[in-house]
Amino acid sequence: MKTEPVDQDLLKQIDLDRLPKHIAIIMDGNGRWAKRRRLPRIAGHRAGIRAVRQAVEASARVGIPYLTLYAFSVENWKRPHTEVKLLMGLLRQYLKKEINELNRQNIRLEVIGRINELPKPVVDDLKNTLEETRKNTGMRLVLALNYGARAELVDAVQELLEKAKQNGAIKVDESMLSEHLYTRGFPDPDLLIRTSGELRLSNFLLWQVAYAELWVTETLWPDFTQKDLFQAIVDFQKRERRYGGLGLS
Ligand code: IPE
Ligand code: IPE
Ligand code: MG
Repeated sequence: MKTEPVDQDLLKQIDLDRLPKHIAIIMDGNGRWAKRRRLPRIAGHRAGIRAVRQAVEASARVGIPYLTLYAFSVENWKRPHTEVKLLMGLLRQYLKKEINELNRQNIRLEVIGRINELPKPVVDDLKNTLEETRKNTGMRLVLALNYGARAELVDAVQELLEKAKQNGAIKVDESMLSEHLYTRGFPDPDLLIRTSGELRLSNFLLWQVAYAELWVTETLWPDFTQKDLFQAIVDFQKRERRYGGLGLS
């Protein structure tokens, strides 16, 4: 893989003892990137894959334990069939091409979302990549596919109701609900990045980002570089997280 030159000054500013445990990214702006170049939207998605590689490599390089990428939402089915089909094709290409690279970087793939509703060939490729990277012990790369936070909460409640049917009344608390989300076992994101300047969550990890620090850039996703990711971490480390308390100052 072609690696971009890394901004060493920026890298040095990162305190490796206070890294976010989990970074989540809403990768947005592929269509606008293409439109500005008078290209079809799919050219933007194709260019977005390069940015995925950069974000993955940069995160693994500094030692981020979890990186979640919002790749396809439950609402994205509303797009024209041709765009959805091309997106699914790009995803399959990415999975096939990337296995060696993920293994080289000791990265384990995970997926969240209503995966079984994706087209069968996509599900098969996902299962294959999950299996092929299962033994890796480095970063977890979590792809959010056919993901919606409300769907996730509904699925969690449904599971809890099934449990109650079998075991009798159960008392639900926050950790129990968390354990029934697709993200069970993952730490909540500390840092949520969104590209292309949009100031909304678009149904992404609504429960899990309760206390995430938000970082929005005007940069469109295909132009996102390792430098942007490092900058987001540097800025994150300057924030004071208070969790409703009074903090340090
Ligand atoms: C994000 O880019 C990628 C996906 C949602 C799959 P968009 O396709 O949303 O690009 P814009 O927002 O139209 O520019
Ligand atoms: C969010 O982007 C979904 C993904 C990045 C996969 P969208 O482009 O779908 O979100 P909206 O429509 O601008 O809210
Ligand atoms: Mg968009």
